[in-house]
Amino acid sequence: MRICVYPGSFDPITCGHMDIIERIVDMFDRVVIGVLQNREKQPLFSLDERLGYIRRCTPGYENVEVEAFDGLLVDFARAKNALYIVRGLRAVSDFEFEFQMASMNKKLYPEAETVFLMTNTKYSFLSSSMVREVGRWGGCLRGLVPGEILPDLMKRLKNSL
Ligand code: PNS
Repeated sequence: MRICVYPGSFDPITCGHMDIIERIVDMFDRVVIGVLQNREKQPLFSLDERLGYIRRCTPGYENVEVEAFDGLLVDFARAKNALYIVRGLRAVSDFEFEFQMASMNKKLYPEAETVFLMTNTKYSFLSSSMVREVGRWGGCLRGLVPGEILPDLMKRLKNSL
């Protein structure tokens, strides 16, 4: 059974994340979306909000589970029996951090492979921080975040001022 972990902050989930999820559900038998609790970098959305938004966007996928994790990603991946860690790459600027992280994760969990997927180029400019910024000032997030959560997210972000 091919199990992968797709980890991230998902603060909040975007269409770029969804693009990756839609592709990996066909590549792996089980996809565990791991949401980092993130104690150092204070997220805008609470853990429950972030988990809830992802679950609302992925109800049709039988092989997807959405779970929080804390501590090292490799420990979470091991606990899930996952031999694959999926990360999306948008641009060359992502590479340096991703290369460091994949190398460290390889050292800590040699059996596991990091698998990079290129994000669809139409989302190469998109990030959760951009979504937060645009949404906070009332900008339209259509096409940037999944339709299932668009109205709630826009309302919530406007109230985060
Ligand atoms: O969506 P993000 O913020 O780019 O995701 C980063 C994430 C959650 C994948 C990364 O910060 C992570 O794995 N954190 C857990 C701690 C860890 O294992 N770090 C990697 C060892 S260098």
